[in-house]
Amino acid sequence: MRLRPALAESVDGGHDRDLILAWRNDPLTRAMSLSSKPVGKRAHARWYDLWCSSIRILMVDDVEVGAWRVDPSGDVNVMVAPAYRGKGIATLLIQLGSRDSLRSPLRATVRLENTASLRAFLRAGYVWTPCDVRRRLARLEWRA
Ligand SMILES: CC(C)(COP(=O)(O)OP(=O)(O)OC[C@H]1O[C@@H](n2cnc3c(N)ncnc32)[C@H](O)[C@@H]1OP(=O)(O)O)[C@@H](O)C(=O)NCCC(=O)NCCS
Repeated sequence: MRLRPALAESVDGGHDRDLILAWRNDPLTRAMSLSSKPVGKRAHARWYDLWCSSIRILMVDDVEVGAWRVDPSGDVNVMVAPAYRGKGIATLLIQLGSRDSLRSPLRATVRLENTASLRAFLRAGYVWTPCDVRRRLARLEWRA
């Protein structure tokens, strides 16, 4: 199991870009995102060109099973490939990504109904900070 950088379209012909878009537009990811609208191909390509250097992909036996991203403010986002959910991957991904990021603190904003994500972050060592109750958002934090 290892984390690798997501590759630019000029390097892999768009393989990683398309994978991230497919995971982002999967129904569960959309339901749990702050914006649940599907992301279009062109908008995603522009976003990916800008930010692919902040994405890491988790490989298990040469298969891509999840993605980790830290934005410039230290906010973390994770996605696990639909076929690999419920196997403990997110917890490992968050542990590996947090250790790898060389950044501290890291923060995650998670919908309160996103039990799997909350449990994965907590198991990986994140702690609760005050929630945004009105928007039903949990805020979790990790320090090295
Ligand atoms: C949230 C997500 C990353 C979790 O990934 P995962 O690999 O399935 O999670 P894990 O298998 O590591 O499980 C984490 C915990 O949640 C629990 N869990 C898993 N699926 C669950 C479900 N559907 N309902 C409730 N709990 C669940 C597991 O039992 C585990 O808890 P435990 O360690 O106390 O036993 C994955 O569902 C996903 O990609 N969702 C869409 C994107 C998203 O919501 N990202 C988070 C926003 S920051």
